Amino acid sequence: MIYLNGSFIRIEDARISVLDRGFIFGDGVYEVLPVYSHKPFRLTEHLRRLQDSLDGIRLKNPHSDVEWKGLLDQIIASNEGNDQYLYLHITRGVAPRDHSFPKDVIPTVFIMSTPLLGSPKELLTTGVSAITANDNRWLRCDIKAISLLPNVLLRQMATDSNAVDTLLLREGFLTEGSSSNIFVIKNEILLAPPKSHLMLPGITYDVVLELADAHDIPYEIREISEYDMRTAHELLLTSSTKEIMPITRLDGKLVGSGKPGKMFAQLHQLYQNYKATIMRETS
Ligand code: PDD
Repeated sequence: MIYLNGSFIRIEDARISVLDRGFIFGDGVYEVLPVYSHKPFRLTEHLRRLQDSLDGIRLKNPHSDVEWKGLLDQIIASNEGNDQYLYLHITRGVAPRDHSFPKDVIPTVFIMSTPLLGSPKELLTTGVSAITANDNRWLRCDIKAISLLPNVLLRQMATDSNAVDTLLLREGFLTEGSSSNIFVIKNEILLAPPKSHLMLPGITYDVVLELADAHDIPYEIREISEYDMRTAHELLLTSSTKEIMPITRLDGKLVGSGKPGKMFAQLHQLYQNYKATIMRETS
């Protein structure tokens, strides 16, 4: 079951106009949030980021937070799986083709759910491969825009190399992955690129830094040079759907020992504990 513009319907029955500005211009924003044991994870934070993205493209939020929560709860209840992930898409709606904003148009709102299976256990034991590329995206990567063509092309480069993601470098500094945030570990210090218009402010990124703070894990939020990245002892990838994953090969070379490291083990465990606590509190 999906939600589209006021109706809960089967995905096979969902229809949108070919003049939808999402289709014509990629004019819209989206959110992705995990659901554990039927409870949306970090909902407030995801809805705040959605608001920031909508503000970034000058589109009025079609729903209050309470309304969003009601819609999401219905989608969660009408889809299978205790754990799911939800996509929320909002476009500027249907209008005659013209780059400028149409007046008085109702935004298109689409929500769908997919079962959240989690990363295969063996990948957490062996780690995954990543490659690098120049970050050739626009300068508002903080907006979670549906116009993802650069990300799609960058991610396909990873897929073509049997890697999970492409780590992006802008003017010699690491920004993020094509669909993830990246942390670097050097000399037992967790390094995180600073939030800016050059990266998406990841919700999982925030959780990782909060956990580091709460458990006295030394961390620094600072620009990470290509040299720091290539000489890292560990590299971690984070996202709502992949949680925390160890990158053990970069551009075909081993990262550190080539095995998931101590920082990964600690943060992965803390993340699982944190999730369990949150779910207990909200049930
Ligand atoms: N992607 N950076 C980019 C470019 C992303 O697309 C994502 C997530 C992240 C991680 O953000 P978060 O921790 O809030 O998921 C960082 C999602 C999963 C997607 O677009 O499908």
